[in-house]
Amino acid sequence: MAGDPVGVAVIGCGTISDQYLRNLTAFPDLRVLCCADLDLERAKAQAAKYGVPGVGSTAQAAGHPDVELVVNLTIPAAHAEVTSQAVAFGKSVWVEKPLALDTAAGREVLAAAARAGVRIGCAPDTVLGAGLQTARRLISDGAIGEPRTALALMQDPGPDRWHPDPEFLFQRGAGPLYDMGPYYLTTLASVLGPAATVAALGRRGQDRRVIGRGPRAGTGFQVDVPTHVASLIGYADGGAASVLFSFDSPLRRHGFVEITGTEATLALPDPNGFGGEVRIRPAGSAEWTVIPATGVTAGRGIGALDMARALRAGVPHRASGELALHVLDTLEAVTRSLAGGTFEPVRTTFPVPAVLPVDWDPHARTL
Ligand SMILES: NC(=O)c1ccc[n+]([C@@H]2O[C@H](COP(=O)([O-])OP(=O)(O)OC[C@H]3O[C@@H](n4cnc5c(N)ncnc54)[C@H](O)[C@@H]3O)[C@@H](O)[C@H]2O)c1
Repeated sequence: MAGDPVGVAVIGCGTISDQYLRNLTAFPDLRVLCCADLDLERAKAQAAKYGVPGVGSTAQAAGHPDVELVVNLTIPAAHAEVTSQAVAFGKSVWVEKPLALDTAAGREVLAAAARAGVRIGCAPDTVLGAGLQTARRLISDGAIGEPRTALALMQDPGPDRWHPDPEFLFQRGAGPLYDMGPYYLTTLASVLGPAATVAALGRRGQDRRVIGRGPRAGTGFQVDVPTHVASLIGYADGGAASVLFSFDSPLRRHGFVEITGTEATLALPDPNGFGGEVRIRPAGSAEWTVIPATGVTAGRGIGALDMARALRAGVPHRASGELALHVLDTLEAVTRSLAGGTFEPVRTTFPVPAVLPVDWDPHARTL
């Protein structure tokens, strides 16, 4: 109802749900009404921890009469199915990345939402955080001239070291490309626009891995996806990016993103974070200048909040389903290129989201 906080159901109460629930229950424009999970005990535990009044199945959560926005935090293999279930109940959905396992399924989700007159928003919402929003404001103010090229690197030994149930991170829909790629490719797309062509080379460092921590530590599992992916991306507006995503590196190097323009190079903070500093090095200078980030550092959940506020205001939300579909399409083109050794086209496009106002406050009551 207009004037009331937007009712939210969280489906998927695993590892990342703590970060979401902490924030979603602290934003006055939202009211979390129900938690759901295949494992009902997990949903009960998270509901009790965060003071959420309801617990139930996916259908009970999505069908809750006062829920307008479903936050889907299930594993990638379940994203499209759970999102579609919620859409069938006439609910808008915020879904963790990736939007779906493949572009065809992602398109179906967006088409079903359009038919139902509801919205889809998708992670990452880190692009709405202070660090990347500061970079976008600098670029649109002309600080680097015309952005032309980008270099992005994510190297890590892999999440089997720390995640208690890491198998899904080495299966279809994940690996470094689908798990970490969305942060970097969404960032690059919001600066360089839609991608148009992609080429890539991939390797799988180990066929099996072993869970490093938690109750199942020592358990081995099979690796189904490439764990080292190097890619070249050509953008429709003429930009070009070189990107590397690896879970095969003893060296941990996250968040390396440089955008080079005609006048300067801008070093962005980690796209898998909300804050951080931006550094600029103008042409002819031997020094980097640090620019402190201004904006929101609240963390995961701000994309769902922007969506809820946009729903009420009848304006576009920023982390859109179209942007997520385009990123998924780009990831899929990378995957086709890995298999075929070819340059692959990317055909989807998206509206570049508006920059957030500097004073956008997730903890303000605006509705
Ligand atoms: N763990 C992280 O640090 C992290 C960070 C950012 C984004 N993410 C994303 O968040 C999502 C969830 O990741 P996670 O690490 O929390 O996974 P997880 O395995 O810890 O939790 C997923 C939960 O979803 C539930 N679930 C699975 N299928 C379901 C279904 N069909 N219906 C209802 N519940 C279902 C599981 O029972 C589990 O409790 C993934 O898309 C992941 O990429 C995770």
